[in-house]
Amino acid sequence: MAITPDAVLAALATVEEPDLKRDLVTLNMVRDLKIDGRQVRFTVVLTTPACPLKDLIRQRCKTAIHRDVDPDAEVIVDMDANVTTPGLDATQGGSHGVKNFIAVASGKGGVGKSTIAANLAVALAQEGAAVGLMDADIYGPSVPTMFGVAPDEKPRVNEERKIIPIERHGVKLLSMGFLVDEANAVVWRGPMVSSAVRQFLNDADWGDLDYLILDLPPGTGDIQLTLVQTVPLTGAVIVSTPQEVALADARKGVAMFGKVNVPVLGIVENMAYFTPPDLPDRKYYLFGEAGAKKLALQLDVPLLGEVPIEQDLRESGDLGTPIVLRAPESASAKALVAAAEETARQVSIRNADAPATQPIEILYR
Ligand SMILES: Nc1ncnc2c1ncn2[C@@H]1O[C@H](COP(=O)(O)OP(=O)(O)O)[C@@H](O)[C@H]1O
Ligand SMILES: [Mg+2]
Repeated sequence: MAITPDAVLAALATVEEPDLKRDLVTLNMVRDLKIDGRQVRFTVVLTTPACPLKDLIRQRCKTAIHRDVDPDAEVIVDMDANVTTPGLDATQGGSHGVKNFIAVASGKGGVGKSTIAANLAVALAQEGAAVGLMDADIYGPSVPTMFGVAPDEKPRVNEERKIIPIERHGVKLLSMGFLVDEANAVVWRGPMVSSAVRQFLNDADWGDLDYLILDLPPGTGDIQLTLVQTVPLTGAVIVSTPQEVALADARKGVAMFGKVNVPVLGIVENMAYFTPPDLPDRKYYLFGEAGAKKLALQLDVPLLGEVPIEQDLRESGDLGTPIVLRAPESASAKALVAAAEETARQVSIRNADAPATQPIEILYR
């Protein structure tokens, strides 16, 4: 019996998108169906190119067609992605050219927030997403060093006088460090910082981006508030080490985003353990074991990943090439790629079932 498009679609209508909990046909994820004799070929349009469930979905499609249509069909599943944005479905674009603003935050400094933000950005870009990274930390900008942007390299403006981000490793970058050197930054006051942040967000030529990662300075101060007032954040990623002091601050960070109705996408545990290169089977929990994992459980937010302490990770940051590019086989790079995929996945889930985050109005009393 000849294979018909209706039969194939009926089979695919039994395949559920594991996170979105509806079938691929209802979700309008099946495109370009072509049948040629026993060959069935179609494209599944995912909600992120960094989907960690790609292989699972492909396998389920094949199984359904073999089961319901023809056990001998040759099934080719191409994957494409159309990143979703809060409040809209995958077929619509965002209001800005930026589909998702994702804040990477921590209560405490030095926990590896910038390192995580940089590697998330590069990992998502590697998987095919259009990605930007904005470094909002004026007193300790890290993006110039981590991406190897020379001190004399300054962003230019376009004809509309919008700042053009500098591109490195496939990521569009803006950093306070491009505009002011650290020695001068100390004289910047809160409102100046806020207005600079606002300018980066609203008046920069980011183009069309799937994800704009915002590397926030530590804490819960002015800049964080400016940010939630300026753009509708899709969500926040909280970085913490397993240490008690860091966890207490991470808890405050989660509470702050909760108060302003920004969803917390999850927690990344950084410096989770150390494996000495000469003892590859050992794990030493230098800052305590699984502290952030427990915090994620307590607060009922996803644990996005556990990144080990690695000398190579630190060196990569200092040398200007994030570790996911420089040493993709290292344990920390693998953990960071997994964390990036998990973050993208949480963004898709959040966009599927939550209303858009409104920029909030802060009332001063
Ligand atoms: N998992 C890790 N292993 C080794 N060094 C790390 C790790 N995470 C961060 N670092 C190093 O720790 C320092 C602080 O990290 P950074 O990302 O700048 O933190 P933050 O932005 O939170 O202040 C940097 O020198 C960075 O290279
Ligand atoms: Mg930093």
